[in-house]
Amino acid sequence: MLLQVVDENGQPMTQQELRDELITLLVAGHETSATSLAWVFYYVLKDPRVLERIREGAPARVGEGPLAAAHVSELRYLDAVVKETARLRPILVFVARELQQPVELGGYGCRRG
Ligand code: HEM
Repeated sequence: MLLQVVDENGQPMTQQELRDELITLLVAGHETSATSLAWVFYYVLKDPRVLERIREGAPARVGEGPLAAAHVSELRYLDAVVKETARLRPILVFVARELQQPVELGGYGCRRG
């Protein structure tokens, strides 16, 4: 998909842009998702009641057919499990910002930089 995409002038991505997108997918996308999933499976498998409740809820919400992306918003208990896991085991515990201009935050004056 990245190789096929073109901009409004019909230009494909440069090698540098492609490389940057792949690094983003690997560092920001893959590791965060993989670590989140690992913790979700850890908590779900640790408590059989949680797994049972996920299994019980799914057919009621999505019917007997295969699970589709459109069903995901219906799976409220599973959604809660994922969110609670993110709360208990945040993948990123802080983010940093560098001020480009001075700003006042909660009564504190913050300098540029
Ligand atoms: C469970 C999975 C993920 C978690 C926990 C997560 C977490 C975060 C957090 C905390 C930030 C910083 C937000 C901020 O600056 O305030 C962030 C930014 C970002 N994430 Fe994720 N992320 C996840 C999945 C992904 C995926 C799958 C992608 C791409 C394929 C992605 C791409 C990015 C990018 C590009 C930014 C920077 C956005 C910007 O500042 O312009 N993330 N993510």
